[in-house]
Amino acid sequence: MLRALYPGSFDPITNGHLDVLARAARLFEEVIVAVAHNDSKQALFSTQERVQMLETSTAHLPNVKVTSFQGLLVDFARAQKAKAVIRGLRAVSDFEFEFQMALMNRSLEPNLEALFLMPCEEYSYISSRMVKEVARLGGTVSRFVPECVEAALHQRFGAGTQPSGHA
Ligand code: PNS
Repeated sequence: MLRALYPGSFDPITNGHLDVLARAARLFEEVIVAVAHNDSKQALFSTQERVQMLETSTAHLPNVKVTSFQGLLVDFARAQKAKAVIRGLRAVSDFEFEFQMALMNRSLEPNLEALFLMPCEEYSYISSRMVKEVARLGGTVSRFVPECVEAALHQRFGAGTQPSGHA
């Protein structure tokens, strides 16, 4: 089984993440989306909520599984028998952090490959952080996130966020 891991905070998942995931799902027999459970990082949504939103958003991708993990990514990858770690690259600004992380992971586990996929250009400026800010300040986020995430943001931030039909 050629299996890849797609790890991240996914707080929350965006259409950019989904685009990268769909590309990975076409390359691998199985892709495990792994939500990082990190006590030291303040997240808007709980790990369980993030997993749930991912499950709903990836229901149309039969070879995608969603789970969460704690601890070192390389340990989880080894336990899952994953051959590669998928990460999205939106712009050059992503590169430095990704390069550093990939080399650290490689030094910890030389058999795990890092694979970088570019999302469609129309998603290249979307980030979870900005989506949360737009939603918090009452903007419409329907073009940037799946419907279930828009609804969750609406619920979290209240009446300011306008859910409006998806394009
Ligand atoms: O979506 P993010 O926040 O950019 O994802 C970063 C993530 C979760 C992939 C990264 O922080 C991670 O792998 N964390 C697990 C802990 C770990 O293995 N750290 C050492 C590698 S830098």
